[in-house]
Amino acid sequence: MRNLSAPLFVAAACLIAPAAWSEEPIVIKFSHVVAPDTPKGRAAEKFKELANTYTNGKAKVEVYPNSQLYKDKEEMEALQLGAVQMLAPSLAKFGPLGAKEFEVFDFPCIFPDYKGLHQVTQGPLGKQLLGKLDSKGITGLAYWDNGFKIFSSNKPVKAPADFKGQKLRIQSSKVLDAQMRALSSIPQVMAFSEVYQALQTGVVDGTENPPSNMYTQKMHEVQKHANISNHGYLGYAVIVNKKFWEGLPADVRAGLEKAMQEATVYANEVASKDNNDALAAMKASGKTDFHQPTAAEREALCKAMQPVYEQMGSRVGKELIANIQKEVAAAK
Ligand code: LMR
Repeated sequence: MRNLSAPLFVAAACLIAPAAWSEEPIVIKFSHVVAPDTPKGRAAEKFKELANTYTNGKAKVEVYPNSQLYKDKEEMEALQLGAVQMLAPSLAKFGPLGAKEFEVFDFPCIFPDYKGLHQVTQGPLGKQLLGKLDSKGITGLAYWDNGFKIFSSNKPVKAPADFKGQKLRIQSSKVLDAQMRALSSIPQVMAFSEVYQALQTGVVDGTENPPSNMYTQKMHEVQKHANISNHGYLGYAVIVNKKFWEGLPADVRAGLEKAMQEATVYANEVASKDNNDALAAMKASGKTDFHQPTAAEREALCKAMQPVYEQMGSRVGKELIANIQKEVAAAK
């Protein structure tokens, strides 16, 4: 009798509650490499919350910050293989995938401010660029800002001549490689999660980051100098595995799209505040000497990095660069 009752109970439960059994939420693993209290980290949490609301709990987003699951390069592979469903890698990280056009965002001094940048990322050109990811099995959903990068090092980084011979960590981007070489420094590609230790042990002298990344990784504790150069942009494309995305029930996908739209507005609102706060906190800590360059000093740095346009123009597309410059000019 005992043996019979268990299968009967299971069969009965199936009859009574088939809906409950088919309502396991669809899990979306969202992996990223930065701290939770950064623009990307906060926006990922916001998306998680909104996704739950707008899909009525049918989708469950799990956020894995701080390279907990994967480091930079591996997370791209994991997405393509379907081991994670969502990422927000920096735009610099699409070059190694073969989507070299994205390296246009790495060009030194290409965006003077957020206004010019948003003219691109929130306009048709940005959308067209996201479409280039289709052939890689990736759907691009949105751009999320971090902010403008500043140089830091254990040696001074004010004038172009200061950079000579310094070992500086970069993301894996040919454009960033050319940028550091234009300054006569020695670029070293390294995963984000390894930078703090490399700075601490002197494997590299310095790096470039938006203040929010520098602060949340405690890099200011191991960097004597910084130059608030705002010489380049670091932002993200939120991407999903294309097959997974297209296989979602239409109502779930629509809910996620709405969540992404709102999370994107939020992301781009918090980004500049986060960076300003991080900069203020680092200054207050007194560990790093922050230099605010004059317009002429910044101009001198931009000029020194200008050869990148000639060297990398054909890699990224001269027409694309010109189109971006046009958009930026239109935003003025
Ligand atoms: C970096 O590697 O420096 C950045 O891409 C980290 C990030 O995701 O902001």
